[in-house]
Amino acid sequence: MTTNIDTLWLFALSTKCTTINFFFIFALACFINLFFQWSKHKSTIPGPRGFPFIGSMHLMSGLAHHKIATAAQSCRANRLMAFSLGETRVIVTCNPDVAKDILNSSAFADRPIKESAYSLMFNRGIGFAPYGVYWRTLRRIAATHLFSPKQIKVSEDQRMVICYQMVEMFHHKQQQRGTNSVCVRELLKRASLSNMMWSVFGRRYRLDSNDVESVEMRKLVDEGYELLGMLNWTDHLPWLADFDLQGIRSRCSKLVPKVNRFVKQIIDEHRGQLVPLNGDFTDVLLSLEGSDILSESDMIAVLWEMIFRGTDTVAVLMEWILARLVLHLDVQSKLQDELRRVVGRSRVVTESDVTNLVYLQAVVKEVLRLHPPGPLLSWARLAITDTTIDGHDVAAGTTAMVNMWAICRDPQIWKEPLQFRPERFMIEAEGLMNMSVMGSDLRLAPFGSGRRSCPGKSLGMTTVTFWVASLLQEFEFWRSECDGYNVDLSEVLKLSCEMANPLTLTLRPSPSRPITAASSRR
Ligand code: HEM
Repeated sequence: MTTNIDTLWLFALSTKCTTINFFFIFALACFINLFFQWSKHKSTIPGPRGFPFIGSMHLMSGLAHHKIATAAQSCRANRLMAFSLGETRVIVTCNPDVAKDILNSSAFADRPIKESAYSLMFNRGIGFAPYGVYWRTLRRIAATHLFSPKQIKVSEDQRMVICYQMVEMFHHKQQQRGTNSVCVRELLKRASLSNMMWSVFGRRYRLDSNDVESVEMRKLVDEGYELLGMLNWTDHLPWLADFDLQGIRSRCSKLVPKVNRFVKQIIDEHRGQLVPLNGDFTDVLLSLEGSDILSESDMIAVLWEMIFRGTDTVAVLMEWILARLVLHLDVQSKLQDELRRVVGRSRVVTESDVTNLVYLQAVVKEVLRLHPPGPLLSWARLAITDTTIDGHDVAAGTTAMVNMWAICRDPQIWKEPLQFRPERFMIEAEGLMNMSVMGSDLRLAPFGSGRRSCPGKSLGMTTVTFWVASLLQEFEFWRSECDGYNVDLSEVLKLSCEMANPLTLTLRPSPSRPITAASSRR
């Protein structure tokens, strides 16, 4: 009898159910299901619980490296913290030993899938190619023909020419404005783009020229840089994939044909040459033989990636260095002394001098420590197999990040971590004299470590150190306070971590300036 009454009630209810009610009940069921899945999702690794559906997505917006460091402290999870970004499981460390385990583990030799990177063809370049034969081949080709010590030496003249043009432009800008204040970002970006265009395509633009090709490439790189630096919700919330709410997909699909057209035209020109003219990287890729031969679309992806990756990192690091020199005039004057002592005033500085400019090297290290261009090492790693990190089980498919910014400011590791003190790398008692930044010591590894560490690190360091030395030989850098500019060390995290307010400084002739500087740089 009771059963009959229940059935009748149910029947009555269901007949009143409109389509809207049905959808409401369905959505509620999905929500409850996801909620249970979320609450079931426990890990032995400490970390913030996050919200249903989105997890701890808020940690990745804005200055993610600061937020993650604060969360790790409040969860007492500095060694290893776990959280979720929508459906992505993430682990992150602020500890150098655990960082070493992650970055050097073969389990973490892959990159997580990122829609914008794939749309912009980076999965066919080195950065996002899945770990395997293709990625290994590309690394080998790039290591031999672009990043080897011999190749870096061969391109010294090119960096010298570009540096000379940069010096000329600094002078010119100063005169143009009628004040001594110069905003340096645009110039540094032009110089490092020009450097990559020369190495990769054999193109030699004058820095002050606004020819159509270099202007177009600059626009393409800027757009790609912005797209790749954005936190794309659909990477973590696949159920949003149909909507392209942030417009990232549509912007990528507009950009890619332009990149293809641009790079293909340069490849075609190279093909048309009877003999390779420049020995640039495009010539190298066209001359590959046997199983190394790349399809045209892969070649486009690799060439575009090199231009793209080599441009912003160098410019961003140089801007941080100049900012620190303006803020710490005592450091700048020690650098001037070193230049006069090592190089003298009878000639311009060369790249071979850099080995003897030990204080300059310490300054670059100190800037990399306080302002690593990739505070979370730019691109994360992906576990391809189940593994164990710091005694915890980590499942295949987990994304791993290293908070290098937090490691570099950890008071347990660094004495007076927030002080800008390059001398720490010069004083024997501090034990940091021979510290390498190339990835063997995870207390300071701004280029990452292990098999996916930055292949361009030597080229990047050579370029930055030499250009800073050359600029210092020509100018003294001062604050532009009288023009209303101050040096603001606030950051903005895009693909790299930049100064939020572009640096504007005042130039004066350097006391180390060689008598014949202008002519000998040509
Ligand atoms: C100051 C300069 C630079 C910094 C701070 C820097 C930093 C980094 C970092 C942190 C990574 C990720 C490493 C990891 O996962 O362990 C990386 C990867 C990479 N960098 Fe650099 N980089 C610089 C210059 C360059 C230059 C000049 C190039 C090329 C011309 C370049 C090309 C690449 C590529 C292709 C990857 C991906 C490597 C892979 O996945 O196998 N970088 N870089």
